Amino acid sequence: MDLYEYQARDLFEQHGVPVLRGIVADTPEQAEAAATELGGGVVVVKAQVKTGGRGKAGGVKLAKSPAEAKDAAEAILGLDIKGHTVHRVMVAEGAAIKEEYYFSVLLDRANRSYLAMCSYEGGMEIEQLAEERPEALAKVEVDPAAGIDAAKAEEIVRAARFPEELVTKVAPVIVTLYDVFVKEDATLVEVNPLVLTEAGDIIALDGKISLDENAEFRQPGHAELEDKAATDPLEAKAKESDLNYVKLDGQVGIIGNGAGLVMSTLDVVAYAGERHGGVKPANFLDIGGGASAEVMAAGLDVILNDTDVKSVFVNVFGGITACDEVANGIVKALEILGDEASKPLVVRLDGNNVEEGRRILADAAHPLVTVVDTMDEAADKAAELAAA
Ligand SMILES: Nc1ncnc2c1ncn2[C@@H]1O[C@H](COP(=O)(O)OP(=O)(O)O)[C@@H](O)[C@H]1O
Ligand SMILES: [Mg+2]
Repeated sequence: MDLYEYQARDLFEQHGVPVLRGIVADTPEQAEAAATELGGGVVVVKAQVKTGGRGKAGGVKLAKSPAEAKDAAEAILGLDIKGHTVHRVMVAEGAAIKEEYYFSVLLDRANRSYLAMCSYEGGMEIEQLAEERPEALAKVEVDPAAGIDAAKAEEIVRAARFPEELVTKVAPVIVTLYDVFVKEDATLVEVNPLVLTEAGDIIALDGKISLDENAEFRQPGHAELEDKAATDPLEAKAKESDLNYVKLDGQVGIIGNGAGLVMSTLDVVAYAGERHGGVKPANFLDIGGGASAEVMAAGLDVILNDTDVKSVFVNVFGGITACDEVANGIVKALEILGDEASKPLVVRLDGNNVEEGRRILADAAHPLVTVVDTMDEAADKAAELAAA
């Protein structure tokens, strides 16, 4: 789960990372009041959207008075930044910036380790820096067992070629940022820019945090960071039923058991879709190992409620849960759903007890269900039905 900048700012503050005061506002009037509360001086009004490059897109504006803050918020609220509509701004104290730097620490899955990245030359988009001047971006592996202590932080800052007099200033801030990374179970903590102010302070001026959802069980505070309004209603419904569901923008609903099978189902449907006017998979949905009738019903319920869905492809490989149980699950699910089930279903069953499973579906002879033997043929049929 990615956080908004203001949420990252709050977490930074809680863990002792130096930040500036910031107040969120949903209207220009609230922004004006926030600027007054911050002392009435220079503030920066910042769009709160979960994407970078807000500055360039006109989503970060300097305001010299509360009245200007109101105008800035007026201009920023409603703005579209890379497909994200701005519903909220943060009014932050204005910093007198002398220099801008970059720091991030992230979970490096490929190397089964953590990676710290740091640059003395901030201000530029980090992707651009990495491409054009890779030598200016230090990449230092961090052993998760050892973490980042003062000495490791200094190693990182030196690798990023900071002048010696800044090393002892920047390193302690990096230690606190690592603290956020570990204590909040984050997969990414990024500060761009980390600034040196005219007064000589090091401050995190922008923050990006991604939290590891697998750690939810030990992070009770994270639930309230979730942006319920922005969550897709179907995804919310799937989550309530503990289903592993991701909405996509196609027309063929997909249900399968096992993440690997569902991923390859998305591929074959996308491929088959090219022969049928470019239809695509509408979602990822993994019902997992024990595909009971209830789970199947919950999955079908989510998918059939997606108005973009024109046909559904149920692709199950019977293993521990045998095909006859899955077939019974489908039949019962259709009973439970009744008239709500209104779109054609293409079912492909294979694996443990497949003959019995196919017989159960054949006997039920549900008018919406077509049983197809192979995955490719089933994908083609589902795509054809979605295109019709
Ligand atoms: N509180 C602030 N005071 C002064 N300048 C700021 C402040 N916040 C951001 N800026 C300036 O705006 C730029 C872009 O802001 P930032 O928060 O990094 O957004 P983004 O990365 O989405 O463009 C920063 O690089 C910095 O120069
Ligand atoms: Mg930034």
